[in-house]
Amino acid sequence: MKKMLAFILALTMIFALAACGGSGKSQAAPASEVLTMATSPDFPPFEELQSDGSVVGIEVDLLELICEKLGKTLQIEQMDFDSVLPGVQAGKYDVGVSGISVTEKRQKNVLFTDPYCLAAQAIVVLGGSDITGKADLDGKKIAVQTGTTAESFCMENGYEVSSFAANSDAELALVTGKVDAWVIDDLTAAEMVKAYNAENGEVLVILGEAMTTEPYAFAFAFGSEELVAQINDILKGLVEDGTVAALFEKYDAPYTSPLN
Ligand code: ARG
Repeated sequence: MKKMLAFILALTMIFALAACGGSGKSQAAPASEVLTMATSPDFPPFEELQSDGSVVGIEVDLLELICEKLGKTLQIEQMDFDSVLPGVQAGKYDVGVSGISVTEKRQKNVLFTDPYCLAAQAIVVLGGSDITGKADLDGKKIAVQTGTTAESFCMENGYEVSSFAANSDAELALVTGKVDAWVIDDLTAAEMVKAYNAENGEVLVILGEAMTTEPYAFAFAFGSEELVAQINDILKGLVEDGTVAALFEKYDAPYTSPLN
């Protein structure tokens, strides 16, 4: 009788295990099914930290869609911008997602997906400033975020640069008169200036002249070629069927397709 009971018990356990393995849902996702995304969430409308600690934005939505198609779960890791690409390169995170502009220099260190939009660098000044365009920046002090293309662009052009780990501190430097201008990506400039002026009056002005054109893409470590090819296919579909444009619209931002 005892033997019989043990047999039935063993059989039940085998069935229970098989059922569990088959359904998948009742188990925690294995590590390979998680996609860790490194980001600096100070970059609306692409990624912005909310008061409850969550990160929202166009790129978060886009990565969620991609993960859905890949059957992966997105996990967001927050850090300063200048830690994103080194972290990806070192294999600490699967993908860098941070409004990252594709540059030749960065392409030596990480593997980029195809771009999904185009952006530009904009100049922000205080209302009434004598700076009205790029030509007036010579000899002026400019705030930028550390490790960004704004920083390298301003340095290469010989401007006097003050770098800040957080975009909000670069903005503060301008508002408090520590610098004469702030160079930052256009759509983020638009969002941050709108939010600042809504609270403080028409203090900040974005100049009409764009400094550069830069494609945004997602960064992986070398060795992820297969995954990147898969994501490129998915991205192509999402750009072509208007999903990416609709995401920009959701966040009230103008969209420039890389396909034009
Ligand atoms: N597009 C610029 C770059 O690639 C700035 C990106 C800043 N991103 C951020 N999440 N703060 O350098």
